[in-house]
Amino acid sequence: MESIYLIGFMGAGKTTVGKALADCLAIPVFDIDEEIEKKENRSISEIFEHQNEAYFRTLETKTLQELPRENAIITTGGGVVTRIENREAIKKQGKAIFLFATAEEIMKRLEEDDSRPLLRGDKKRNISELYEARMSFYKEIADFIIDTTDKKTSEIVKEIVDCLKQSC
Ligand code: S3P
Repeated sequence: MESIYLIGFMGAGKTTVGKALADCLAIPVFDIDEEIEKKENRSISEIFEHQNEAYFRTLETKTLQELPRENAIITTGGGVVTRIENREAIKKQGKAIFLFATAEEIMKRLEEDDSRPLLRGDKKRNISELYEARMSFYKEIADFIIDTTDKKTSEIVKEIVDCLKQSC
């Protein structure tokens, strides 16, 4: 089976759903941000602080290319779709499942979260600008879109598994 890429905005639930989906399918899960942190031996926030976004994006592209293209779940960072080479790689390498939530829902979910470097400052404005800029990219490469609003992780996993069975 080709690898499954979970894509979507920050706060969409990619990492949580990815772990549960991997358990359910009994295949390994790789989180691109975690892989980068392991390689760099520092947090994503520190990378953004001491280097810059471009440096992080290059690590992200490299990591995406290195991860298994078969029999794995790959959970991505929300900005992976901003580079065309990443979008092409995901489209070519596997199935992309887009975990959707509205900008308002994302704002609620991330209200208390200060871990995302790109949301520092005016969080509301930053979310709406990035959301607006990225939504078409997620839709462009998605093989399947799942609305995560008001759904438990287990329900989302079930929807993905059903969808994979029908090979949608
Ligand atoms: C980013 C999302 C983050 C992380 C980094 C940049 C983005 O991952 O990769 O802070 O540009 O949307 P999550 O989507 O898991 O929060």
